[in-house]
Amino acid sequence: MSRVAVIGAGYVGLTTAACLADLGNDVIVVDINREKINQLLHNHVPFFEPGLIELVERNTKAGRLNFTTSYSEAVPGAEYAIIAVSTPEGEGGEADLSFVEAAAGSIADAMDGPLVVVNKSTVPPLTGDMVSKVLRNRNQKHTAEVVSNPEFLREGSAIQDFMHPDRIVIGSHDRAAGEKVAKLYEPLNAPILITPNIYTAEMVKYASNAFLAARISFINEIARISERVGADAKLVAEGMGMDKRIGPSYLDVGLGYGGSCLVGEETVLVRRGDRVSLTALAQVFTEFSSIEETEVLAWQPETGSVGFARVSAATMRPFAGEIFEVRTQMGRRVLCTPDHPFVTRDGVKLASELGPEDCLPIAISSQSGAELARSQELVRSGAHMSAGAATEVAVRTELSSGLWRGVGMHVAAEQVPLPDLTWTQPIENKRALLAGYWRGDGSWSYVRGGPSVILE
Ligand SMILES: NC(=O)c1ccc[n+]([C@@H]2O[C@H](COP(=O)([O-])OP(=O)(O)OC[C@H]3O[C@@H](n4cnc5c(N)ncnc54)[C@H](O)[C@@H]3O)[C@@H](O)[C@H]2O)c1
Repeated sequence: MSRVAVIGAGYVGLTTAACLADLGNDVIVVDINREKINQLLHNHVPFFEPGLIELVERNTKAGRLNFTTSYSEAVPGAEYAIIAVSTPEGEGGEADLSFVEAAAGSIADAMDGPLVVVNKSTVPPLTGDMVSKVLRNRNQKHTAEVVSNPEFLREGSAIQDFMHPDRIVIGSHDRAAGEKVAKLYEPLNAPILITPNIYTAEMVKYASNAFLAARISFINEIARISERVGADAKLVAEGMGMDKRIGPSYLDVGLGYGGSCLVGEETVLVRRGDRVSLTALAQVFTEFSSIEETEVLAWQPETGSVGFARVSAATMRPFAGEIFEVRTQMGRRVLCTPDHPFVTRDGVKLASELGPEDCLPIAISSQSGAELARSQELVRSGAHMSAGAATEVAVRTELSSGLWRGVGMHVAAEQVPLPDLTWTQPIENKRALLAGYWRGDGSWSYVRGGPSVILE
């Protein structure tokens, strides 16, 4: 079995490391984020990915998986160094390769013998040459062959995707180095494509991403036209997908390929067992565990009503850019990215497309179902810029009295306990909650089985 150093403990790095360790390799993960490594050393996986925590625990216990912040602990003696660091979007939309470059420099400084450096980060073609150059310039004593091995896993099914891939793509100018990387994947019995130069493998990843994006954009355009001519877009996609040359995947009409758009300090009503609390999304993210069932109050498009839905995954993304504040007449405010989709009376619109004439559905009570509130104001808040591409967005949260009125109505309608946050609120918010409560159904509340009051 081989000794492997994985550079970067993110989704890709950690999944790759845990899976390679599970296949019997001796793996060590190095990350410059001390906090992350500290958490991993205490068996805490900093994000949720089904099955990952179990895989990390099992292999750490067996001594096949280790974590460090020191390259000189990870790289010497390794046969492979797999780069899986972030490649965020730069200011002009290009990939920011500074993390890859820094990782290559640190590998070069720490290597003590010949090494195969595998690039798993998603990078534009020709990046492999840049990595080779950094390695050569920084370490003239030892040689390193650079291999491109792009990653195709999807968050939410990362382990399944790693262990049962459609294909593995490997490219290198040096055939022997490519074959050495293929050996790592032999136990998976998956189709392996080894390309005769590094550029071809690099290009496969970019071309695949572009093609998948194009399919989604294409089917959304078709949906737009279908709507106009009275065709059923879902059936159009189904009819197209039955053609073997086209296939059904990635032809789902929908909201596109966006991700998390609400800022970390936005709040949701969370239910765990019999406890309901108003919780910031960032907190839901850090506290989320696959073991304890977590539910959040959510819009359910199938029924057109609001109810608690089980959280099956928690994801976040770094965002640097303009944050929008959407306010409704009833006082609900949401801070989100411009690409966050909203259901409106006239169909789905992005936050950046909303205007005062739009109506958004909001929960009034379970009896009346959802009602529409006019989006009164749309405020572009340029003040919320983050400092760097990989920095989380800094925001303020406003627990307005309008929101508390809404909470009150929900508490009344659903007969759920009062959120714990209630007790520390200023008097206006407590009054608002009570007002909402009475608008809900007018009956008195019992908190966790006992009588209680909102206004102390
Ligand atoms: N997440 C996905 O679904 C996915 C799928 C396929 C490909 N990719 C690509 O894989 C790469 C990694 O993605 P991710 O989602 O795992 O990113 P991530 O942001 O979750 O993790 C990257 C990690 O690299 C660490 N890092 C940054 N610079 C470093 C350095 N010099 N040395 C050591 N560690 C360093 C960061 O601290 C972070 O923990 C990206 O290029 C991404 O585009 C991601």
